[in-house]
Amino acid sequence: MSSSHGYNIANTRTDYLQSSLDEEKTGDNPIAFFKHWYGEATNAMVNEINAMTLATIGEDGKPHARIVLLKAVDDDGFVFFTNYNSRKGKDLVAHPHAALVFFWNELERQVKIEGRVEKISEEESIAYFESRPEGSRIGAWASPQSSEIENRDILEENYQYYSEKFKDGKIPKPPHWGGFRVIAEKVEFWQGRSSRMHDRIQFFLDRSIWKKRRLAP
Ligand SMILES: Cc1cc2nc3c(=O)[nH]c(=O)nc-3n(C[C@H](O)[C@H](O)[C@H](O)COP(=O)(O)O)c2cc1C
Repeated sequence: MSSSHGYNIANTRTDYLQSSLDEEKTGDNPIAFFKHWYGEATNAMVNEINAMTLATIGEDGKPHARIVLLKAVDDDGFVFFTNYNSRKGKDLVAHPHAALVFFWNELERQVKIEGRVEKISEEESIAYFESRPEGSRIGAWASPQSSEIENRDILEENYQYYSEKFKDGKIPKPPHWGGFRVIAEKVEFWQGRSSRMHDRIQFFLDRSIWKKRRLAP
C-alpha cells in the first residue's frame, strides 16, 4: 500500500525501546502512580501533556470521542471543563460513563481510564472559571458549543457582544459551563516495548479495593 503523495501509512512504525513496566513499580494505587507518571512526563517536556481523548456514549448508543484538557486529578478522579450543552455534555447526562486516553509519545506511554462521571460542584467550577484568562471567559459565553452556526461572523459578533456586556464588571461563569469528574474504576498503564511486546498493567476496583493484573499487549 503506497501513496502517490510520497508517504506510506502502512509502513509507518516505531519500535519502542525506552523503558519497561513491572507490577512492583506501579504500587497499590493507580491515582498515585498516574501522578508519578505525570511528573515524569512533565520532566520529559511531553507536548500537550494534559490533552486526553474523552470518549462518551451518545444518546443513540454510538461512541463519540474528542480531546479535552485534564485540569485536576485527585483521589476523587480526573476533572475537565466544558460546555454542559455540548455534544459531550448531553452524552454524559444520558450515559454518565466515560473513557479517557493519554498518549505520551516522548515516553512511549499510554494511560487509559474508565469510570463513572459526575458534574463537579458549582463552587469548584466557579473557582476554576475565575482563574481562566479573560478571553476564554468571554469565549465560554460566546460559543454555543457543538451547535450548528451559520458562519464565523456569528461567533465574532457574540464575542463582541459579551465583551461589551461584561466590560465594566466581573465576567460570571455561564450557567451552562463547568466541570465533570471521571471517577476511575479502571486505570491501565501501557509502556511501549520492542517488537510489540509491550507492558500493560491494569488496575481495577474489586469491592472498593484496587487490584491489578497484567494484560497481553
Ligand atoms: C488540544 C485540545 C484541547 C481541547 N480542550 C478542550 C477542553 O478542555 N474542553 C472542551 O470543551 N473542548 C476542548 N477541546 C475541543 C474539543 O476537542 C471539541 O472540539 C469540543 O469540546 C466539542 O466537542 P463535542 O461537540 O464532542 O462536545 C480541545 C481540543 C483540543 C485539540
